[in-house]
Amino acid sequence: MTLSQILSISSLLLGFSLRTSVSISMIKFTNIKCTTLDKPFADFRYCKLKALARDSVALSLRVDIFQASVNNVTVHVQTFKRFNGYRPFLFNITTNFCDFMRHKTRFKFLNMIFKILKAYSNINHSCPYTHDIIIDKLILTPEYFPLLPMPSGEYRINFGVDAYNDPKAIVYIYVLILD
Ligand SMILES: *[C@@H]1O[C@H](CO)[C@@H](O)[C@H](O)[C@H]1NC(C)=O
Ligand SMILES: *[C@@H]1O[C@H](CO)[C@@H](O)[C@H](O)[C@H]1NC(C)=O
Ligand SMILES: *[C@@H]1O[C@H](CO)[C@@H](O)[C@H](O)[C@H]1NC(C)=O
Repeated sequence: MTLSQILSISSLLLGFSLRTSVSISMIKFTNIKCTTLDKPFADFRYCKLKALARDSVALSLRVDIFQASVNNVTVHVQTFKRFNGYRPFLFNITTNFCDFMRHKTRFKFLNMIFKILKAYSNINHSCPYTHDIIIDKLILTPEYFPLLPMPSGEYRINFGVDAYNDPKAIVYIYVLILD
């Protein structure tokens, strides 16, 4: 790991902004897997990637929520890097999503994901959620990640969603990064 990567990690973890030279040149989705763990609660209507150009891949998904109002959500976000198989790498965050939506300052990494997500989805409001969740043609670009301490490689990001302390869905997103 280079010094600038270490500085970036420190700044992400500690929440201050150190401008370093870590920047990536390319980032794109390579695969997605969506699994519902409680079909009477929610199900994926679709969950897919579409290649628009060589380095431009759009993610779209829709979750139908069968409960009228959801007011208690926990998210787990864990990042893995592929070495010899995928190994935990850097982030492992669990947070009360409804609190996060009220304050949005606790985790730099989640804020970064959320900033991207909100431009392409209908999740930008506080709890309760009373509608289906839609993400429409989300495309990653390096400009979204000015301080990402993730060197070139293949990554998997696990998004686990619990409601009322009960696992409801898990989404695996695979991403390729070049620096
Ligand atoms: C990630 O966090 C979860 C929940 O806090 C914990 O159960 C799990 O052991 C952690 N995984 C690693 C690799 O640290
Ligand atoms: C998200 O919601 C906040 C607060 O309601 C609003 O200021 C902001 O413009 C919204 N962003 C998007 C992308 O809709
Ligand atoms: C969410 O629901 C669980 C299970 O009912 C409960 O234990 C927990 O306290 C709730 N959390 C919040 C923030 O309401």
